[in-house]
Amino acid sequence: MRLMQSFFRAYPLRTALMLAALLLSALAEGVGLSVLLPLLNIALGTDSGVSLPGNEAATNDFEVTVRNALDSLGIAITLPNMLLVLVGGVALKSVFLLMAQRQVGYTAAQVGTDLRLQMLRAILHSKWEYFLHQPVGKLTNSLATEAQRSSQSFVNGATAITFLIQAVIYGAVAVALSWRASLAALVAGIVVIGLSHFLVRITRKAGKKQTTLLATLMALLTDTLQSVKPLKAMALEELTDNVLARAANQINKSLRRQVLSSAVLDSAQELMFTVFIALGIYVALEMFSMELPTVMVLVVALGRAFSFLGKVQKQYQKLAQGESAYWAMKGAIDEAEQAEEQLDGGITPTLQQAITLENVAFAYDRHRVFSGLSLNIKAGSLTTLIGPSGAGKTTILDLVLGLIRPDDGAVLLDGKSLQEIDIKAWRKMIGYVPQETILLHDTIEHNITLGDPELKSADVEAALRKAGAWEFVSALPGGLDMVVGERGGKLSGGQRQRIVIARALVNNPILLILDEATSALDPDSEAAIRQTMEDLKGRLSILAISHNKAMIQAADQVYLLENGSARLVEAGSDSSLGK
Ligand SMILES: Nc1ncnc2c1ncn2[C@@H]1O[C@H](COP(=O)(O)OP(=O)(O)O)[C@@H](O)[C@H]1O
Ligand SMILES: [Mg+2]
Repeated sequence: MRLMQSFFRAYPLRTALMLAALLLSALAEGVGLSVLLPLLNIALGTDSGVSLPGNEAATNDFEVTVRNALDSLGIAITLPNMLLVLVGGVALKSVFLLMAQRQVGYTAAQVGTDLRLQMLRAILHSKWEYFLHQPVGKLTNSLATEAQRSSQSFVNGATAITFLIQAVIYGAVAVALSWRASLAALVAGIVVIGLSHFLVRITRKAGKKQTTLLATLMALLTDTLQSVKPLKAMALEELTDNVLARAANQINKSLRRQVLSSAVLDSAQELMFTVFIALGIYVALEMFSMELPTVMVLVVALGRAFSFLGKVQKQYQKLAQGESAYWAMKGAIDEAEQAEEQLDGGITPTLQQAITLENVAFAYDRHRVFSGLSLNIKAGSLTTLIGPSGAGKTTILDLVLGLIRPDDGAVLLDGKSLQEIDIKAWRKMIGYVPQETILLHDTIEHNITLGDPELKSADVEAALRKAGAWEFVSALPGGLDMVVGERGGKLSGGQRQRIVIARALVNNPILLILDEATSALDPDSEAAIRQTMEDLKGRLSILAISHNKAMIQAADQVYLLENGSARLVEAGSDSSLGK
């Protein structure tokens, strides 16, 4: 029930409303039930139909109390009246129960939505290095299955509380009739619940296992699907098929165990409760020689109390099955929030002079990339970085973007350290083209605007022209409205690159960063990009990693990055330059 506490703390008002409605519904049900005994007495002919002073017609204290209460309300004890009170009680109960269940449903939906949003926000605002360690599939799984299971657990918990309250009401009626019989029934109930608790434990274990297995399976699945082309090309899909099948089979095994323990709980509970009730009837009639109407109402009240108690346990079992998903998600959210990116500086960024890296040292965990790296990128110029792969070129870009921070030294914008600068504002001034050009499964226009309503088709066209892409886009079936396929699969590598370059240019950045973004271009588009770069130079600063001749020849300065240090080389003067 730690789970329910956690929910109650998160949604105090909704929970209070739900509990209030539940209590009112239970009260209404109690009122309806209380007339059962007088009703039976009338029906069995043991009642004269008139409430006499001293209540001679009553068979026990409880009935006396009920009859007095009805009397003071001016309700005559007649068959139609008793039936009306009974129906009225049940009707009221149903109305309140509906209100409670509506509240439960709304809250459950809120639980799922809030968890999803919290998770997404926490992950998106986490440090870049933390983000890199998160498998996409695990996140997808959290947002899909775990959030859903968490919200289902809330429903189960709330339903368990509903049933518990109803069990208590029936129990209370039974106690009013005979406290001894009720005490015996309570003991019996505890025995049944206790005996079958191991089934709940089995389910909880199965649920935990499913949580882990589902996360693994989804992470594996997404990973595989993202690199499916080489797998198919080399006929290796069976390999991954085996791995996926193993995970799926394990989930199946755990599901079977869960289904079995839930079915066993169903049958075992019913059998044990029936045995106890039969025993109770025998003892009440034969040994205590209680009146038949009293025994009948007792059986109804205790039978229903038992049945609700059983349902409480069933709901609790279901809750135990899904609970681990909630804790897994909560844990992941907490962890991601701990790793939140610090965007502390308050200084508004400017880029009028230069971006400078001053004696920068940086290491990934223990892998040192630089120690004492210095370079200078003049504002308004085109700077090209070259160097062998793994030299740290992308790392330099990440430092400039503020995605990672130097262990020593500083990244300066017009002489001010990036640490003191409003990083978000800085990133808004940047157009960035990554090394892997992956598009969204959407139209070309959406891939460029990313849904920004400020950007019009004219802006998109202008950006595409600058990126040397307008010619091929306008010739496509559908033009700007063509859907590019999964990860942009319907376009060639070079076409994708130009779309992504257009995306980077559409917001009129003051700094354009290209990470090997021109590697897949044919001579014509290369010439178009080069022309664009020449045109843009002076109006904005460009920092490009490229081994492309055009980008090297158009550059104002070329830095060669090697062995953790950067040195200026002149375009065309070094044998390592160019293709
Ligand atoms: N997130 C990371 N965690 C650990 N090591 C990394 C990470 N990113 C890059 N590296 C390592 O740092 C070095 C520089 O990487 P990178 O800057 O991407 O090189 P490149 O010059 O090819 O762009 C490489 O040896 C690479 O293996
Ligand atoms: Mg790189």
